Amino acid sequence: MSDSVRRHDGENDRRVVDGTDVRDPGDEVVTDNGAAARPPESDGLPVLGDVHSIAADALGFYERRAAERGGVARYDVFGTESYLLTDPDAIRRVLVEDHASYVKGEMPREQLGNLLGNGLFLAEGETWREQRTAMRSAFFRERVDGYGDAMIDHARGMVDDWRDGDAVDVHEAATEYAFSVLAEGLLGDDIEGERETVRAAAESITERFDMRRLTSFLPEWVPTPMNRRYRRRLDALRETLRDLVAERRAAGPPADPGSADDLLGTLVAAAELGAIDDDELLDNAVTFLFAGHETSALGLTYTLHALATRPDFQERVRREVGAFDDDPTPVEVRDCPALTAAVDEALRLRPPVHSFFREPTEPVMLGGYRLPAGVVVTLSPWVVHHDDRWWEDPETYRPERWLRTSPSGAVSVGDDTPGPAVGERPEYAYFPFGGGPRHCIGMRFARQELRLATATLLRRVRLKAVDEELTLRASANTRPAGPVRVRVREPDGRLESADG
Ligand code: HEM
Repeated sequence: MSDSVRRHDGENDRRVVDGTDVRDPGDEVVTDNGAAARPPESDGLPVLGDVHSIAADALGFYERRAAERGGVARYDVFGTESYLLTDPDAIRRVLVEDHASYVKGEMPREQLGNLLGNGLFLAEGETWREQRTAMRSAFFRERVDGYGDAMIDHARGMVDDWRDGDAVDVHEAATEYAFSVLAEGLLGDDIEGERETVRAAAESITERFDMRRLTSFLPEWVPTPMNRRYRRRLDALRETLRDLVAERRAAGPPADPGSADDLLGTLVAAAELGAIDDDELLDNAVTFLFAGHETSALGLTYTLHALATRPDFQERVRREVGAFDDDPTPVEVRDCPALTAAVDEALRLRPPVHSFFREPTEPVMLGGYRLPAGVVVTLSPWVVHHDDRWWEDPETYRPERWLRTSPSGAVSVGDDTPGPAVGERPEYAYFPFGGGPRHCIGMRFARQELRLATATLLRRVRLKAVDEELTLRASANTRPAGPVRVRVREPDGRLESADG
């Protein structure tokens, strides 16, 4: 096993690779013969590698590994050589400058290929580019604004069910909310007749990737009751989508993807233009359901819970959104700095996607090391968002850190592009939505949805956390380990008397 350690000895930062002292010119680590070095090997078990540590607590494992090994940290999973990348500049290189040297790779395809097929999330190369171009217009600002009414209406519906003094599970409520918003965004009015089919499929997808269940680790073809249910419900969903596509074609599809009323309309128009085939059309409908439902639900859960632990900042957001005559619109929430900061900080502290993966298609240099083609490169918003080099007091929910006060006293925060003010910290110290050409296509949709829902709720109720601490576990996404209970009070109720 090779042994590489970093020694800090005054001026010269030296490393020892395979027991030999090596020079370190600039940031490139080299061996005696001048070749760029590989990062030190992992010390996990033979064959299993670090699987046991990851299964026990993936988030903790990633944080420890990064702290011990630095910006490019090796680990192994069942013999797959993997590197956790936590240096923001190296992350930017992978996602932006050198993105053409990487693919999503084998691992996501093995886990999700049967579900997402050749949809946008997994597609590569020219197929991906054509799809992304065809679908872009569905996420332009005006189109996303158009989903605003549904986002507000469903938030009103959610809070209508709550009574003063209730301890509600905001994870459950947010999951229902995000499902309703996305299902309507996907199918428009057609959702009315198909709600149960779509809901059953969405639930089965979440269940299938719930790592608390040991059966989730079994391949899809093993006929467990869960796998059979999953297959049955997904088949029903695809059948339903196929029928809806046929109906829309018969009725005359939108002239172009940009003029459709909902995401399915965009996909049908893209298929008519030849940008995607019929299988890819269905793959993409399922992709949106998968990629946009649980992630948004988690983002809303963590925003509401975090605000429920910060009554003072919650009050500030309430004053801000209470200043409008009615529930604020998509245009109005863009002018709500405290609300925006509340959401962006929740996505920092508890990023719904804790990590995602890339595979270099050729040897690459990262953080001064040479990595061969075909390894797994893990990019972890979770670790970087908790790194105290970029974030003061990283474990604390502090939305104030996002707010800038100008000399005239005006308070602002990034509206369209979340992230730290330029120059304050590296750009990729914050990347809950990924980055570069493959950044989340639903980012604007999600940020709007989280702001509208939070504004609509806080105009009607005060929230107080029942459990201040949250236990999280890394599944496909960053899920809470149990219910996330929050006590609801009418705005004029006495919050202080809520006993939790
Ligand atoms: C808070 C909510 C969300 C978070 C945190 C989130 C996060 C992410 C991240 C990190 C990626 C990049 C993955 C990678 O590079 O491997 C991604 C990609 C993607 N997201 Fe989201 N997402 C959210 C909501 C949504 C919504 C609402 C939709 C759809 C309506 C959506 C659709 C997608 C799709 C299709 C991709 C793949 C894009 C591509 O490869 O071109 N996401 N998301």
